[in-house]
Amino acid sequence: MSTSNVLGPGRTALVTGASRGIGPLIAAAIARQGGHVVLTGRSAADLKAVSADLAAAGADVSCIAADLTQPGAAQTLAETVEQEHGGIDLLVNNAGGDPLREFHTMTIEQNLRTLQLNLIAPVALSHATLDGMLRRGRGHIVNISAMAGRVSFPYTEAYAAAKDGLIGFTRVLRSDYHARGVSASVLILGAIRGAGQGQRMLDESGMKASGFMSPAESVAQTVIKAVAKDRAELVVMPGPGRLLRAVMDYFPALGPALNRAAGASTTVQKITELREQKPGAAT
Ligand SMILES: NC(=O)c1ccc[n+]([C@@H]2O[C@H](COP(=O)([O-])OP(=O)(O)OC[C@H]3O[C@@H](n4cnc5c(N)ncnc54)[C@H](OP(=O)(O)O)[C@@H]3O)[C@@H](O)[C@H]2O)c1
Repeated sequence: MSTSNVLGPGRTALVTGASRGIGPLIAAAIARQGGHVVLTGRSAADLKAVSADLAAAGADVSCIAADLTQPGAAQTLAETVEQEHGGIDLLVNNAGGDPLREFHTMTIEQNLRTLQLNLIAPVALSHATLDGMLRRGRGHIVNISAMAGRVSFPYTEAYAAAKDGLIGFTRVLRSDYHARGVSASVLILGAIRGAGQGQRMLDESGMKASGFMSPAESVAQTVIKAVAKDRAELVVMPGPGRLLRAVMDYFPALGPALNRAAGASTTVQKITELREQKPGAAT
């Protein structure tokens, strides 16, 4: 059992991006602490399948389908969960992703959708849940960010802008509301294997996972650690992640050089070409 006052029996968590990828693992880890977990994503069928699996493993879960890029969706989702469960104690803004296509070949609307999903939706959901958390004097918001901007990962301009924005957003949110019982943490993910967008890239390209990738389950465990130990920022990648992140900031040319050396630029180019040939392919 966690020492946190937002995990455990009698508490409610809302996990976005819980229909596939890393989200179901995060939801399962939270559910194992006790309490109720609400799963959300666009696909009602996928949510139903995930919630059936989690319930079969003993979790107390429910789901609500929502497209977080739609105006007002975050507010409506937060209100529905509050009405049905009496409040949201833990919000995990995990939904996100990137089409991984060249910035200039996507329309500006496609780029703005990436910002909407990865930055505006977490800000809107945090805004919509904060009043209730403050009223109850407890709450924790966990935002899932990425190393993309730090390492100049190819073709992630809007995604990197959103994920770096999420780090700044979380720092200020934490600082402003911590004394009133509401905390915030950000997880900065490197490449993840086993589930999610990184694994799909490997599957599409026929490549094997490298030693630079962390298992998806480690993200779920890090969410629990961030909440239970009330940590501000945690990096999920093999090795000294926070140090590497600092080094990347100090030497901005290092990321692109490492991408070239590790073959990331070539791989992403290959994925981009594959996805342009198959516009409906996984993103
Ligand atoms: N996997 C990695 O290597 C990696 C690395 C760094 C950071 N991250 C971050 O980790 C988080 C999880 O990534 P993942 O790899 O698990 O991604 P994923 O497999 O692509 O899953 C994305 C989730 O977001 C939901 N989603 C997408 N568009 C949505 C929308 N418009 N409205 C509501 N929900 C939406 C998807 O559900 P529906 O399709 O049902 O809507 C799905 O549940 C993301 O924030 C990602 O940026 C991942």
